[in-house]
Amino acid sequence: MTMTDGFVARSLDEVRFWSRIMKEHSLFLRLGFRCEDTQLINEANQFYSIFENIENRANAFTIGTDPQTIQRFNDEVRNAATYIWAFKRKVLGLILSCQLPGANNFPLLVDHVSREANYFRNRLTELNAGRLEPLPDAIIDENVFFLRIMADHAKFIGHLLDPSERKLVEQAENFSQEFDQLLFQARDMDSMRPQSQTGPLLDQFLDQNRVSVKSLRDFKKTARDLIDACRIKSIIHPLLADHVFREAERFLFIIDMFENSLTGKSVPAPQTMMEH
Ligand SMILES: [Fe+2]
Ligand SMILES: [Fe+2]
Repeated sequence: MTMTDGFVARSLDEVRFWSRIMKEHSLFLRLGFRCEDTQLINEANQFYSIFENIENRANAFTIGTDPQTIQRFNDEVRNAATYIWAFKRKVLGLILSCQLPGANNFPLLVDHVSREANYFRNRLTELNAGRLEPLPDAIIDENVFFLRIMADHAKFIGHLLDPSERKLVEQAENFSQEFDQLLFQARDMDSMRPQSQTGPLLDQFLDQNRVSVKSLRDFKKTARDLIDACRIKSIIHPLLADHVFREAERFLFIIDMFENSLTGKSVPAPQTMMEH
């Protein structure tokens, strides 16, 4: 089989980013379980260790590592992502059938983290198969995925802030509406393909999304800093605030990468981009 250019760099970039995310999901899920749900707490702790171990190994590999080693590693990580996806769906089932009354994870949050696990799994499958989507398809698919993720984040923030933080709750609700609207636009682009996949339309689509993602990213950064400094009332874990901020940064990085590919500019290596 043929390895695409930058296979090792791209694989490490995806695994380093998403394994940390999966590790943190395990922590958030665990915090939302009731004390008596010891079995679920144990399972969540096991996933935490699994993804912590994967993250450490991904950080130890370099771009000089043998591609075959990385390919085997990707397969292993893909399995772990499949298992955590199944765990998240099981938890969603328990919540929706009212078997965990009083637990503190929103169903939409559990669905959301399962979608992220599924995304991670698909990325690894694509990387190992050496077939990435053509650019115009990737632009639409990634935006449909991430706009929904951003819209969800705005909803979680709005619902986890103390209701007395009226001003911030209102801002979060505005972001929620804005991103729902952008998501509908993205789905329209999707249903109009391939005719919608012209250079100018895709370019404008990216520009418009970038503006909104930047302002949401800044809102999340502010929220994170306020939570860290204990200046606002909420039940948002500081790590969750940072987590959603990093996911917005990731989306911006992807938008910029697409923009550069569309305009033919060279794409900076992921490693250098991640240090910003
Ligand atoms: Fe996440
Ligand atoms: Fe997320």
